[in-house]
Amino acid sequence: MKLDSTRREYRYAALTKQSVAASPIDQFKDWLNDAQLANVNDFSAMSMITAEADGFPQSRIVLLKDISTEGFTFFTNYDSRKGKAIEKNNKVGLHFFWSELERQVRIDGIAEKTTRKESEQYFNSRPLESQIAACASAQSATLTSRSKLEEQVRSLQNAFKGEHPECPENWGGYLVCPVRIEFWQGRESRLHDRIVYELVEKEWKIKRLSP
Ligand SMILES: Cc1cc2nc3c(=O)[nH]c(=O)nc-3n(C[C@H](O)[C@H](O)[C@H](O)COP(=O)(O)O)c2cc1C
Repeated sequence: MKLDSTRREYRYAALTKQSVAASPIDQFKDWLNDAQLANVNDFSAMSMITAEADGFPQSRIVLLKDISTEGFTFFTNYDSRKGKAIEKNNKVGLHFFWSELERQVRIDGIAEKTTRKESEQYFNSRPLESQIAACASAQSATLTSRSKLEEQVRSLQNAFKGEHPECPENWGGYLVCPVRIEFWQGRESRLHDRIVYELVEKEWKIKRLSP
């Protein structure tokens, strides 16, 4: 595979300080909408990055489930590796890449747990199989075999007999409240557009960065 000669030009669109919305949340919603309309696979998938105690940052994909003026919400197991990392350091990163639109968005923010009610509301909206899976999986803990997990799923299926389990105490959402959001639009000859919003005394300040 000749990676060093693999390249493409980015010509899809441009981004200026004048063309972006005053609020990065509105700008983000526009771009997310564009990604959905462009049929980007898993358009709501994002890398979620934690700063770990050992100094190695950790990144994994999660699905964005809500956006509001307050921030970005995803759901997970609170005892997972990411949950434990957030407990020690709630400064996190979120990162979207929509290849078809030649766009990325980078978000720095502070993660806080959603209310139990919000977590329950979302959990209750999930299909039964996903609810059972969330109950069966001690996410990020070592598993001796896949059959152990499948056994646990069968045992929960038998116990609940088609009824819906309650949202486990260790499962729920995080709301990431942004302090910095960068919008990147690929441009020709690698002269990309980068517009960044930074929260300064509760106001969003906008500037352009060098590509
Ligand atoms: C497309 C995709 C969507 C995913 N969505 C979620 C999600 O919403 N929540 C979640 O906890 N894990 C999700 N995962 C699994 C995570 O990437 C990860 O494996 C898991 O959360 C354990 O991460 P951790 O050990 O760093 O805590 C998703 C993975 C992929 C590839």
